[in-house]
Amino acid sequence: MCGIVGYIGSRSAKEIVINGLKRLEYRGYDSAGIALFNGDVKIVKCKGRVRDLEEMACREDFNGTIGVGHTRWATHGEPNEMNAHPQVSYKGNFVVVHNGIIENYSRIKRHLESRGIPFRSQTDTEVVAHLIEHLYLEGSLTAEQAITTALNNIEGAYGLVIVCRNEQDRIFAARRGSPLVIGVGEGENFIASDATPIIEHTQRVIYLKDDDIAIIKKDELILKTIRTPVIQPEVQEIDLKIGEIDKEGFPHFMLKEIYEQPRAIRDTLRGRILPDGSAIVLGGLHDVIDRLSNARRIIIVACGTSWHAGLMGEYIFEEYARIPVEVEYASEFRYRNPLITSDDILIAISQSGETADTLAAVRLAKERGAMVIGICNVVGSGIPRETNAGVYTHAGPEIGVASTKAFTTQVTVLAMAAFEIGYKKGVLTEEIYRQLIKELVLLPSLVEKTLEVNEKVAEIARIMKDASNALYLGRGYLFPVALEGALKLKEISYIHAEGYPAAEMKHGPIALIDEEMPVVVVATKDHTYEKIINNIQEIKARKGTIIAIVTEGDQIIGKIADYVIEVPETLPVFSGILAVIPLQLLSYHVAVMRGCDVDQPRNLAKSVTVE
Ligand code: G6P
Repeated sequence: MCGIVGYIGSRSAKEIVINGLKRLEYRGYDSAGIALFNGDVKIVKCKGRVRDLEEMACREDFNGTIGVGHTRWATHGEPNEMNAHPQVSYKGNFVVVHNGIIENYSRIKRHLESRGIPFRSQTDTEVVAHLIEHLYLEGSLTAEQAITTALNNIEGAYGLVIVCRNEQDRIFAARRGSPLVIGVGEGENFIASDATPIIEHTQRVIYLKDDDIAIIKKDELILKTIRTPVIQPEVQEIDLKIGEIDKEGFPHFMLKEIYEQPRAIRDTLRGRILPDGSAIVLGGLHDVIDRLSNARRIIIVACGTSWHAGLMGEYIFEEYARIPVEVEYASEFRYRNPLITSDDILIAISQSGETADTLAAVRLAKERGAMVIGICNVVGSGIPRETNAGVYTHAGPEIGVASTKAFTTQVTVLAMAAFEIGYKKGVLTEEIYRQLIKELVLLPSLVEKTLEVNEKVAEIARIMKDASNALYLGRGYLFPVALEGALKLKEISYIHAEGYPAAEMKHGPIALIDEEMPVVVVATKDHTYEKIINNIQEIKARKGTIIAIVTEGDQIIGKIADYVIEVPETLPVFSGILAVIPLQLLSYHVAVMRGCDVDQPRNLAKSVTVE
C-alpha cells in the first residue's frame, strides 16, 4: 500500500526517484507525486500512474539533488491530485510522504483546526505535515525535535519520509508498521519502501525497525529511535539482481512469474534435501522442530492467495504429520479473541511479509505465548523479523499483483515441513518419506512440463472471456486450487468467480448453472476421482460448459467435459501445485483478451500494509 522513494546525493534526483517509483508501483497506483529540492522546492503530483507523473515532471525545467516520491493506494480521500503525496505543511516548511494509516488523525486534525490551521486534502497524512510544522513554529523546536515529538503523538502505522525546507542537507525517515529500507551508497543515500528501487544503485541496505528514526544525509547516516539516542545501524548486503525485477521480454510480470515457477520451486528446495534424498532439512526450523513435532495443534494465518496455500497446508499437515490444523483469515483471527495457548504453534504465511493483518495476528499469538513460525518470501520483511523461526520461500521478487509463484513455493515449503515432521514423529515410514522426497525433487521439471499447456489454455480462454460468472470446483487438495483459480480470475479479469468444494455444489451453486456458466473442474487423479466424475455429470446434465483439469492420459473425463487440459501425473499431495498453473494461465489470458491491466488490476495492491 503506497510506495515511497527518496534520494540524497549529487545526481539528478528526478530520474532516480521516478525510476524507483516505477519499481514500487505494485504497491499502489492510483496517484503519484514527487518533491525536488535545490534550495527551492518543486512539487509535482497527479492522479494516475507514475508514467503520468513522469510526463508532467519532465515538462518541468526543475531538478534537484534531493527528492522524495510517492505512489499511492488511497485509504483516506479519493485518488486525486490534492490527496496525492507529498503533502505539504500549511506554511510550506515540511514535505511529507507516508505509507500507512494515522489512526488518531481526526483528533489531531480537530486540535490543529482549532488553532486556525487550514486543511486542503482529505488525507490522514496532511495532519502529520501540519502537526510537525505546528510544533516546529510554535514550540521553537528543531526539525528533528518537531518530528520526534509529532511521532510520539501519532497512533497507527507509518513509513514516513520528510524533508524540511530549511534543512536541505537531510531526509528524515521514520517507521512504525510500514516498511522502509535505507540504501547506503558512496556520497549518496536512498530510502524506499522496499529494496527494489535501490539495488541498481547499491546492494548495501539497512532495514528500519519499528520506532526507528533515520537522519539521512549525502555522506552520513544517523539512526535513532523515538525514545533513544543514536543507535548503531545494521548494514546488510542484499542478494537481489536487477534482472529479477525486470520483465525480461515477457509482456507482463504475471506471465514472467508464472513461467518462473520451475526455477522458483527449485530455489525453494535448494539445500533443503540431503544429496542422497534421505531427508529434508529445513534449517530455519532446526531449533523448533521438536516443539513442532509435539504440537497440540497448528494455527495457520494468512490472507488472499497465501490463505489458499495455508488451506492446502492444513490438508498436507493433517495427512502427513497428523497434527490438527486450523486455517484462519488473519483479519478475522486478530479481532476474535481467539483461543491460543503456549502449546499452540502459529504459522504465518505471507509473500510480502508485510501484510498488516497477518503481522498483527503474529503479534497477538506471541503475546499469548504461542510459538510463531513464518513462511515468507521477502527477506528481512516484518513477519520474519517478528517470528521465532521460519522458512523463506526464495521465490524471488513477485511484482505482478496477482500472486502466482508465491503460492506454489509456499505449498512446497508446507509440504517439506509436514514430511520432515511426519518422519520425525514416526507417522511416515522411511520408504514413504523417501518416495515423497523423490517426487518433490521432480516437481520443478513437472511444473516445466505443465507450462506446455499455455497455448491450449489461451484457446480455451476465448470461451471464458465474455462470461459474467464462472464456477471453480475441486475436492481435497484440489479444493484450495479451485479457490485460487477463482480468485485469480476475479482479481485480474473482473469476472465474478467462485471456488467451491465440488460436492457442495449441490447445496446452492448448482442453481446457477446453465449454458452461460463456464465451470472449471479440477479433477486430477486421487481417491475422490470417481466422485468428481459424478459432479461433472451433474454439471453436464444442466448444460454448463465444462473445462476440466485432468491427469495426463485421462480417458474418461475427456468424453464428458467440453474442454480438457492435461497436467503431468504426480502424487496427489503435489497435484495442486501442477493443477493451479493452467488456472493461473487461464486468468492471465482472459484478462489480456478483455484488455485488463494484468499487473496492476483496479483497486488492488500487492502489499496490503493497512488493515
Ligand atoms: C494482496 C495481494 C494478494 C496476496 C495478499 C496477501 O491482496 O493482492 O496477491 O495474496 O495480499 O499478501 P501476502 O504478501 O501476505 O502473501
